[in-house]
Amino acid sequence: MEKSIKVSVAGTGYVGLITAAIFADRGIHTIALDVDKEKVAIVNKGETFFFEPNLEPLIKRVVLDKKTLRASTDAIEAIKDSNITFICVGTPSIKDGSIDLQYVKQVSKDIGEALAKKDEYHLVVAKSTIVPNTTRNIIKEIIEQHSGKIAGKDFGLCMSPEFLREGQSVQDTIFPDRIIIGYIEEKSGLKLEEIFKQLYEEKDDDFSKIWEQIYHKKVNCPKIIKCSLETAECIKYANNSFLATKISFINEFANICERIEGVDINQIAEAIGLDFRINPHFLRAGAGFGGSCFPKDVNAIMHFAEKHQYNPGLLHSVIKVNEHQALRMIELAEEKAGDLRGKKIALLGLSFKPDTDDMRNAPSIKIIDYLIAKGANVFGYDPEAMKEAKKDSWIGNKISYAETIKEALDAADVCLLLTEWAEFRKLQPTDFKIMKTPILIDGRRIFDYKKFYEEGIQYAGIGLGNKK
Ligand code: UGA
Repeated sequence: MEKSIKVSVAGTGYVGLITAAIFADRGIHTIALDVDKEKVAIVNKGETFFFEPNLEPLIKRVVLDKKTLRASTDAIEAIKDSNITFICVGTPSIKDGSIDLQYVKQVSKDIGEALAKKDEYHLVVAKSTIVPNTTRNIIKEIIEQHSGKIAGKDFGLCMSPEFLREGQSVQDTIFPDRIIIGYIEEKSGLKLEEIFKQLYEEKDDDFSKIWEQIYHKKVNCPKIIKCSLETAECIKYANNSFLATKISFINEFANICERIEGVDINQIAEAIGLDFRINPHFLRAGAGFGGSCFPKDVNAIMHFAEKHQYNPGLLHSVIKVNEHQALRMIELAEEKAGDLRGKKIALLGLSFKPDTDDMRNAPSIKIIDYLIAKGANVFGYDPEAMKEAKKDSWIGNKISYAETIKEALDAADVCLLLTEWAEFRKLQPTDFKIMKTPILIDGRRIFDYKKFYEEGIQYAGIGLGNKK
């Protein structure tokens, strides 16, 4: 990579911190920016403040050994001291479902102020998920206003959405399926293309060796698609909306299957997934999708469409089906256990998916709400997310937290499995015999139901038509 290249990354969430760390791991001097002093101090010690597989050793390596990554709260200084800035700050929802751009606006202002103080060409790349027209109408406008410079002439501007999944974010950043480059004019697009080609260059260095050994894949540059800024913004929403639609589709079908004796949604998903036009991924029926992205992004693009006089009926249904999945878990519990008032309910899994401690929009939150409204006593257990769950302003102290799976199950009336953590997959029917009544509602369909029936467990699963 060009010796002179220096990267600054605004935002140290999943996208920002990992993007910064990967550049740093390829030997590029990188500054990770955040307004939170504590987070900056943690990164500068070579540590992390959220759980993510393979992130901790990576941060340690780039901060303490290679010394190619440092974190800072001084945005203007860092932007001045780099020649490319990635905007990776959060874009949460406001109450009506529309996007909150306050952090994007603040960073754009910082970039503008920094650019006012430097003469060299600087490339700005928006990576945050932002509704169409944001890069051109908001980011560009604010930077121009505060720098007195012109986009496309004095500084470059691109939009390159990120597709990493939490829990696999390191892997997804090193081995992306494709790279999207939306650009304001050719020079910006070519610059970013060159930077990505160098970041993902196939070469026999430590970077390639380490990651190829961990993930058994070859580091190389994937297909790059170049397009307008607005197309790039839309690609991200189309991608997440399509994946959310696949999940709501299979959950809708699962609900139909539950009404037909002898039908199992997992076999249906396997069979339709073999049709290359469908593919097997994102067809796992369950307790619904959560996380910081799907619910937020589908709502944001719906809101955008409505503002532009289009009613996105399909996307409304995607959200509606997803809302219902949480309730479906309660219905299945009631079908087996009757009234839940005063009963001990063990919840296995609180995070929105395995391998993360992220509780944002986790189906567990809605399910806990329903259970509490029904007067149940909820005991939650999660291998990683209990600290986050305790901090959650909504569920926080409304439930009890079990130290172990055994403590959660002990004398429980019903167990709801909500997240498919690896340690839950190892559970055997006998592990549930310590319950007062061994009723297991498998919200992620991880168990072999026949084995559980044989051992006398009262098992019900999403999308399973067998009534035992
Ligand atoms: C999602 C996308 O997959 C990423 O490509 C995207 O970059 C990211 O949002 C984002 O916009 O930042 P993420 O939210 O980390 O990633 O998690 P996913 O693995 O997509 O899972 C989302 C939810 O869907 C989870 O609650 C998961 O349990 C659920 N899910 C997923 C299902 O219920 N069934 C499936 O078959 C797959």
